[in-house]
Amino acid sequence: MIFYTDYSLEGSNTFNIKAKANVFYEVGLREDLDSFVRKRKLMDMPRLVLGNGSNVLFVKKRFKGVVLKNEMKGIEFVSENDDEVLLKVASGEDFDEFIAFCLKKHLHGAENLSGIPGSVGGAVVQNIGAYGQELRNLVRSVEYFDFDDYEMHTIDNDGCKFGYRDSIFKHELLDKTFITSVTFALAKKYVPIVGYGTLQERLSGYAVLTPMLVRRAVLALRFEKIPDFKQYGNAGSFFKNPDITPEEAAKMAKQHPEVKMFEQEDGMFKIPAGQLIDLCGFKRTPTATVGVAYTNALILMNLGGAKGREILEYAKNIKKAVKQRFGVKLEPEVVIV
Ligand code: EPU
Repeated sequence: MIFYTDYSLEGSNTFNIKAKANVFYEVGLREDLDSFVRKRKLMDMPRLVLGNGSNVLFVKKRFKGVVLKNEMKGIEFVSENDDEVLLKVASGEDFDEFIAFCLKKHLHGAENLSGIPGSVGGAVVQNIGAYGQELRNLVRSVEYFDFDDYEMHTIDNDGCKFGYRDSIFKHELLDKTFITSVTFALAKKYVPIVGYGTLQERLSGYAVLTPMLVRRAVLALRFEKIPDFKQYGNAGSFFKNPDITPEEAAKMAKQHPEVKMFEQEDGMFKIPAGQLIDLCGFKRTPTATVGVAYTNALILMNLGGAKGREILEYAKNIKKAVKQRFGVKLEPEVVIV
């Protein structure tokens, strides 16, 4: 168990914000959590569990609490049948490296989620999704340490209460748990998922689809749309894509025929928030330190030396403009600390 005080978080968040934490505690083993909870002083401080820091925005110069950095590693075989293999993956593993591991072992289902920066634990909290696949479709169970009773608990897929970029870990279990491992069910037989518009287009010339081909196509699409956070700090999509009712959609189509909407299975309509932000003209109005990506207006970027509160301020302006022009309320997808 290693811990630091007055620790710079600059290298621990993909927005590259220069915030500091009063205490930074690396958790590699379950025993580290046991030692942590015995330190009364630390337990009384505000707490933040951090994976790869790819979905957080630190808005204050200092997080006056303890950051628990997840360093848990390891992949274990659990069981298999004719159709699938269960793997128990430590929550601090890098999710994309796990996908590469699956491909090597000829295990399928995760390839559409290629290139998403983040840890396995963070992927669960956020129920990450991209190009027609969502993490919830792969999760069998999640094991976590509970800061209230100091015990380990396991919940199944239903218990995770997954929703669009949402899970129980953002609500009832917020700040109360440390996810230690996730058991994934991976398919032995490959069934390509290529219904998502841009991915379908990209792969239309291929007679046979392989998981590696799909992975490479997804990585290429992401590379074209999402700036490298090492150059321009960002956390992927800043807002969720809002859902509106069929009535609201009909009104929108009349008042703003230029807005593209996508009907969902449940009858609601999803509007790409990037498109609304784009139509409000934000691609042309960066500040000295904050702007949206030219390739996708849903991605807010640290153009260099931005303070967390400057990014938040810019996000608030976007929210206000979209509400004013389209009557649509945007909700952040990124966790604001
Ligand atoms: N669009 C514009 N202008 C823009 C951006 C988008 O007009 O500046 C329109 C385009 O017409 C495009 C549509 O919006 O066809 C959708 O854009 P895109 O396919 O890039 O998807 P997105 O809505 O921006 C979502 C996810 C991404 C995920 C991609 C691919 C959310 C909040 N975002 O983005 O997830 O990678 O689809 O599946 O659901 C993330 O969560 O951080 C993330 C990057």
